[in-house]
Amino acid sequence: MISFALLALVATMTFSLAPVPVQAAGQSVLRGDHASKSTLPKGCRSCHRGMRFLISDEAPCLKCHGSQGARDAEVSKGYLRSVGSLDLGDIEAELQKPYSHPVLSVSRVHNRKEALPEEVVDALRHSECFDCHNAHEATRERPLGGVAGKRVGNFITEIEKEYELCYRCHAESANLPLRSTNKHAEFKTTNPSFHPVEGEGVSSFVISLKAPYTARKERPGDVSIISCSDCHGSDDPNGPSGPHGSRFEGLLSQHYEMEDARPESDYAYALCYKCHERSSILGNESFPYHSLHILGGGPSASPGASCISCHDAHGSTVNPYLIRFDENVVSPNAEGKLEYRAQGVAARRGECFLSCHGVEHNPLSY
Ligand code: HEC
Ligand code: HEC
Ligand code: HEC
Ligand code: HEC
Ligand code: HEC
Ligand code: HEC
Ligand code: HEC
Repeated sequence: MISFALLALVATMTFSLAPVPVQAAGQSVLRGDHASKSTLPKGCRSCHRGMRFLISDEAPCLKCHGSQGARDAEVSKGYLRSVGSLDLGDIEAELQKPYSHPVLSVSRVHNRKEALPEEVVDALRHSECFDCHNAHEATRERPLGGVAGKRVGNFITEIEKEYELCYRCHAESANLPLRSTNKHAEFKTTNPSFHPVEGEGVSSFVISLKAPYTARKERPGDVSIISCSDCHGSDDPNGPSGPHGSRFEGLLSQHYEMEDARPESDYAYALCYKCHERSSILGNESFPYHSLHILGGGPSASPGASCISCHDAHGSTVNPYLIRFDENVVSPNAEGKLEYRAQGVAARRGECFLSCHGVEHNPLSY
């Protein structure tokens, strides 16, 4: 049964083919925090201004989730109440940062019947607020509540994990940009190594790990799981949660130096040092030549290398220890080989075949 209020609204809709959302008896389409009449007294009209049901851009959302000035205007027009106790945050300011989801820059492309992951190679890529949030169901506790996720047979299930949302656009999409990679392929738990987002990691002793993560897995409960937004999000620790925007390249929540030959510091590799002890890495507790490479120097007087020259931050389909050489810096050796070979499991021994800053590795071993 559809509620009377909804029927009345549907009757005023300006289009006729759109299916009415399926409702359980007596349940309103609007169930999350936006259903609160004490904060949003105008109900559906808070977003459906002029009772237009098709929304294809972020403008209605930014009236309340943008600048304080815009919010004040909503209060004076009677759309929003008791802002004093509410802390809505300025999502618009996040989206204006140099690295952001293209919410403001790509508008009116979203179509609520679109298929995600994209099936069309040249479909224009976009991300609107409601590609990532269900405005009818979102709550403070579950900002991603009610968002459609993966397809299971004829059904589309609700997402349970944050990464399932990201995979709608960053995994098997037919329209991935040229330099982008399929994130599911990188995080798959059958890979030789991966950061533990989809499931538990492969290594039982990652010596540099800091609390709350467990370096050494001894008991079955010693599982360290992280999420995309542990690395991607606002550069402002007090900013709103979620990967809306950041002043750091890569839309990262901490700074990460991705250029070769820059000096090492706490700040340079802050992203990695958030979870991996700097003194352990530079103290060569795992790879005996970490400090030589990261700080530079040695007999060949090489400049310092970024972690990104040797490691992929997501996962590797080929190597253990997230090894992936950055081919902007590292090239094949004189015999044409560019390869890492680990010796045994957790042996802390391996060999590299490559050439870097004119230093031949054919192989160099540790
Ligand atoms: C907080 C903002 C917000 C409020 C409040 C809101 N809606 Fe929506 N509604 C949206 C957005 C955004 C879309 C578009 C979703 C999309 O395209 O993916 C939408 C889409 C719809 C649609 C199109 C069909 C669909 O589900 O995709 C209908 C019908 C609808 N809303 C009805 C309502 C009714 C009835 C109310 C009040 C009981 C309401 N909405 C309140 C934001 C809101
Ligand atoms: C008229 C004001 C208003 C509009 C318009 C509005 N919101 Fe909200 N939104 C709120 C309020 C108030 C809350 C509840 C905040 C709380 O309880 O802390 C909220 C909560 C949320 C939340 C849950 C997370 C949180 O901080 O509580 C999300 C996500 C959200 N809104 C997204 C949207 C999106 C997307 C749109 C546009 C389709 C939108 N909102 C439009 C006022 C608004
Ligand atoms: C509706 C589609 C969509 C969803 C869902 C989505 N993204 Fe994106 N994302 C994009 C688009 C479009 C871009 C711009 C570049 C591109 O086309 O890939 C982008 C860019 C990015 C970038 C690179 C930004 C930069 O400046 O280098 C990161 C990082 C990112 N997204 C992470 C995430 C994470 C984490 C999630 C899940 C919480 C997510 N995305 C969910 C569409 C999406
Ligand atoms: C341990 C930190 C970390 C985690 C966890 C992480 N990322 Fe990243 N991500 C990075 C770094 C660093 C970069 C920039 C360097 C690069 O591109 O490899 C990046 C780049 C990206 C880019 C831009 C490059 C591209 O291929 O388009 C996207 C999109 C992205 N990440 C999505 C995701 C998604 C989705 C997840 C979760 C499933 C995720 N990331 C989890 C660190 C992380
Ligand atoms: C690419 C996906 C994506 C887009 C686009 C996006 N968000 Fe978010 N948003 C997220 C994620 C992920 C979170 C964090 C969820 C969590 O904490 O579990 C979040 C969190 C939020 C929160 C809660 C912030 C807090 O600190 O409690 C609000 C409010 C919000 N988003 C509103 C918006 C609005 C409004 C827009 C459009 C102007 C938007 N988002 C666009 C993914 C997105
Ligand atoms: C949010 C926390 C977090 C951040 C940030 C982070 N890591 Fe990790 N990392 C982990 C966890 C947890 C593991 C343990 C995985 C396991 O159990 O195998 C790990 C494991 C690793 C491993 C070993 C993988 C293996 O299979 O042995 C490498 C290498 C690594 N991280 C490099 C990096 C680099 C480089 C950065 C910065 C770009 C980084 N990490 C940032 C949490 C993090
Ligand atoms: C010259 C290549 C190279 C560079 C540069 C490099 N690493 Fe490594 N790293 C390795 C190798 C090889 C291993 C595997 C050692 C082994 O056999 O256990 C490793 C292992 C690791 C591990 C897993 C074991 C542990 O220590 O917990 C982490 C984490 C790690 N590196 C982080 C980093 C960070 C952070 C940076 C940048 C500050 C960095 N690495 C720079 C080559 C490199």
